[in-house]
Amino acid sequence: MTNKKLIGVDLGGTTIKFAILTAEGEIQQKWSLRTNILDEGSHIVPDIIDSINHHIDLYKMSKDQFIGIGMGTPGTIDLAKGTVKGAYNLNWKTTQNVKDQIEEGTGLKFALDNDAKEGWRTGLVTTFVKEIPFDSFDGDYAVVVVGPPPMMKFTGLELMNNGVDAEKVGMSFERKMSCAVGKCGHCRIDEGYVCLDGPVFPYTVARDLVD
Ligand code: FES
Repeated sequence: MTNKKLIGVDLGGTTIKFAILTAEGEIQQKWSLRTNILDEGSHIVPDIIDSINHHIDLYKMSKDQFIGIGMGTPGTIDLAKGTVKGAYNLNWKTTQNVKDQIEEGTGLKFALDNDAKEGWRTGLVTTFVKEIPFDSFDGDYAVVVVGPPPMMKFTGLELMNNGVDAEKVGMSFERKMSCAVGKCGHCRIDEGYVCLDGPVFPYTVARDLVD
């Protein structure tokens, strides 16, 4: 058993979530940043480095208290080289040397992973919607769409184009939430509160919400 900590990073197209964890996986600190995908995503890795260094200082910790950093990312990854390519929601079209840059910028060991396992496919959700044989399900299905707003919008439209029943589609607006108990007002859309009325709304309602 070690007292050393880990830093976990969840890199997404909308936010980058960070956590400091024990080796057993207990979260001790967490924070997040908006993902800046401008300029071909060139700010993302520097923002991650700055944020990690800043928070280690903020919590009055030192680098030798950490085992390293593990990050989940979209795109196709090379585990050994620690590179990412084809992460289109980050504007990363070319191969990004994430591991080298983050190790150099933080002085900590770094490892990448994602859910792109064998048998799973990556790409635009709208492309895959066409392939789902909704007709053969006899109405016995439900669809929940979770992700960045443009993806949800176009996935909803594509589901409708493919004859999916709008009543069977749910859209999650969880990303709007902060306090989650109806106090902070962060999640207000029109006259409603995502945390109180959702966070998953039927498509019949979600398509008219001004996000
Ligand atoms: S998350 Fe604070 S009011 Fe809904």
